Amino acid sequence: MCVAYSASPACMSTNTIAINQRMDRFDGHAQVWLFGYGSLIYKADFPFIERRAARIRDWSRRFWQGSHDHRGTPDAPGRVVTLIPDPGAVCSGMAYLITPTVFDHLDRREKNGYLRHTTTIEFSDGGSVEGLVYIAPRTNAAFLGPAPEAEIARHIATAKGPSGRNRDYLMHLADALRKLGEHDAHVFAIEKHLKDLDGERETVPR
Ligand code: SIN
Repeated sequence: MCVAYSASPACMSTNTIAINQRMDRFDGHAQVWLFGYGSLIYKADFPFIERRAARIRDWSRRFWQGSHDHRGTPDAPGRVVTLIPDPGAVCSGMAYLITPTVFDHLDRREKNGYLRHTTTIEFSDGGSVEGLVYIAPRTNAAFLGPAPEAEIARHIATAKGPSGRNRDYLMHLADALRKLGEHDAHVFAIEKHLKDLDGERETVPR
């Protein structure tokens, strides 16, 4: 099923800004914790009060979301991460304590299908808190869904968009997870396939 979040034609647009602005779960709070698991781990282009390594449960990070606005274009979308429900799974990332004014920027940055979702955030050094995470659900029009990891790597190898090359998104994310001491088999498998592809290209005789 395809859900278009803005005006017709159906499924042409995934813009989630208006839906996210109506989200009132933390209205009246002076500060909110936000969990980041993709580019929000390594690219904090917003003010934050505090940042702590953290995890959330029952979700898996997957390169199953299309990117029309950052690492691809509407005609040639890139592949970026979203979270897929996965009972028992643990997804590691970074939590940021922010003021609600920052959501204006974040809703724009994550507008291509991502919705604010309430979750329990567990800090790596102990304790937990209720906070928010941006998730692009299966029903959003830019969702690409599963594919073999080698195929995802081939896709990422060539895609690019206004925020730069899709491969840089993958490499920055893999590096950021390593710095956190985290192993994500899906992310690291795609990174390995991409590096293998680069190696093959270098050895092709001209
Ligand atoms: C996130 O990082 O938490 C959301 C996905 C992304 O912006 O890459």
